[in-house]
Amino acid sequence: MISNHLLFKLASGEVFGQDQPIALKLLRSESSVQALEGVVMELQDSLYPLLREVSIGIDPYVIFEDADWALLIGAKPRGPGMERAAILDINGQIFAEQGKALNAVASRNVEVIVVGNRCNTNALICLKNAPDLPAKNFHALTRLDENRARFQLALQAGVFYDKVANMTIWGNHSTTQVPDFLNAKISGRPVKEVIKDTKWLEEDFTITVQKRGGVLIEKWGRSSAASTAVSIVDAMRSLVTPSPEGDWFSTGVYTTGNPYGIAEDLVFSMPCRSNGDGDYELVQDVATDDFLGDRIKKSEAELIAEKRCVAHLTEEKGHKVPNGKNDSCKK
Ligand code: LMR
Repeated sequence: MISNHLLFKLASGEVFGQDQPIALKLLRSESSVQALEGVVMELQDSLYPLLREVSIGIDPYVIFEDADWALLIGAKPRGPGMERAAILDINGQIFAEQGKALNAVASRNVEVIVVGNRCNTNALICLKNAPDLPAKNFHALTRLDENRARFQLALQAGVFYDKVANMTIWGNHSTTQVPDFLNAKISGRPVKEVIKDTKWLEEDFTITVQKRGGVLIEKWGRSSAASTAVSIVDAMRSLVTPSPEGDWFSTGVYTTGNPYGIAEDLVFSMPCRSNGDGDYELVQDVATDDFLGDRIKKSEAELIAEKRCVAHLTEEKGHKVPNGKNDSCKK
């Protein structure tokens, strides 16, 4: 469902502009071939001038060959009563396999955006299995959360969402994520000056953003698809266009040498800027307070627990995680 929205956006030039031809290589699962063939027919019938190649395959070692961008979307959704360890293990194996394939055949500078949940830990698994590629190039998609947070702040302040800037999502793409209302701005002013209701910010706003994906699943009976596709385009565009002066975007990145005291060796959402060449730098000087700091620690703890559950899938580079699986995998 996500790809069905995303592919048409990519083919129309929404990310790379009107001068950049596109080749789409679609990795299918055992069961998705009919649906993908249908999507390919629709792409062909749309006569996109930039779309020069569309192919479908089941072997990641073929499909990822020379890929400049890898958008890793497919994953099994967590069913009712399923333990965290079970879903992390099932999906982790997909991303370990895809990491190995990227490592073997993708462009040496491939940019990887992991969307399939739990996307932070899946991105960690993927990069660990791709030791010859820069870990920095692996992202977990938290742009959807950023967009959701911007919309909620704009709604509450009674402004259009383009007035909301400097929106950071810290941590995991899960209900422990921390939408940062301390550093976000509305029309250039700190959010807390514009929205004076601290209780609303700390409770309603924070919880609405954290639980938006779950509420949407209840309404739709399936995960967000169109808005996820839009946020993937936004995430890509943020890397290929210079960040506006003074602003930043959120993306889940590998925590090595970060200035925020976040444990090393996780994939954690943080504020980043890009000069538009596909690369990015962490924004270095975003201050948090006790409220945000406590919550950021909880999201960090959740990611550390997730990492323990998948220790068997992340040991490729000799990064052995002590304690292996434990009871926290069951939550
Ligand atoms: C979302 O945030 O909408 C999704 O990641 C939710 C989900 O669990 O698929």
